[in-house]
Amino acid sequence: MQYWEGVYQSQTAAGERPRWERGEPNPALLSWRGGGAMTPCRILIPCAGRSVEPSLLANAGFEVTALDVAPSAIAAQQAMLPPGAWTVLADLFSWEPAQPFDAIYDQTALCALPPEMLGEYVARLRSWLVPGGRLFVLFAQTGLPGGPPHDCPLDRMRNLFAGHEWQWPDMLEFTVPHPAGFIEQPAILTRLR
Ligand SMILES: C[S@@+](CC[C@H](N)C(=O)[O-])C[C@H]1O[C@@H](n2cnc3c(N)ncnc32)[C@H](O)[C@@H]1O
Repeated sequence: MQYWEGVYQSQTAAGERPRWERGEPNPALLSWRGGGAMTPCRILIPCAGRSVEPSLLANAGFEVTALDVAPSAIAAQQAMLPPGAWTVLADLFSWEPAQPFDAIYDQTALCALPPEMLGEYVARLRSWLVPGGRLFVLFAQTGLPGGPPHDCPLDRMRNLFAGHEWQWPDMLEFTVPHPAGFIEQPAILTRLR
């Protein structure tokens, strides 16, 4: 956990930003918003970092909860988010919301977590959503061993987000390039039951 805070602090001291930070809205999120797939609701953004998407959504009428374990990230979110949005400084593996969410936006969260923890993470994502709730996720396609970012090959993702618990779209959408040099595969998965 201190790893992440250490990166934020050292990069800030160097006048740089972590390589995972886009610094602008993810084109996939803009496409989902523009196409009507992502409409105002109660949404969780785990591993929010200092990303701009939570404030974009909050300013568009979403009830946003941004969660991160790094104090620098949460301070940045508090500075960006409008009144009425929530921030949570917590390790997601030991946090439970008071109420489940309508949607979750996962941007470089899944690929940032230790691969051996992904089964538990996916179980938590499921428990944090209402039945029928939707996960807006960007699967990092690095094609490389190690990480973070850890590679999220689609066959492994289909095993993790199993078909009896998650509904996958018939076709996966366009991909988006990440400035750090990998590709992100956007997908909207629906919690079944
Ligand atoms: C690769 S960064 C992505 C940040 C943000 N989503 C973005 O796109 O800029 C991963 C983030 O996950 C957070 N994180 C890592 N493990 C976590 C955990 N167990 N609980 C909560 N946050 C965690 C880190 O502090 C970091 O901000």
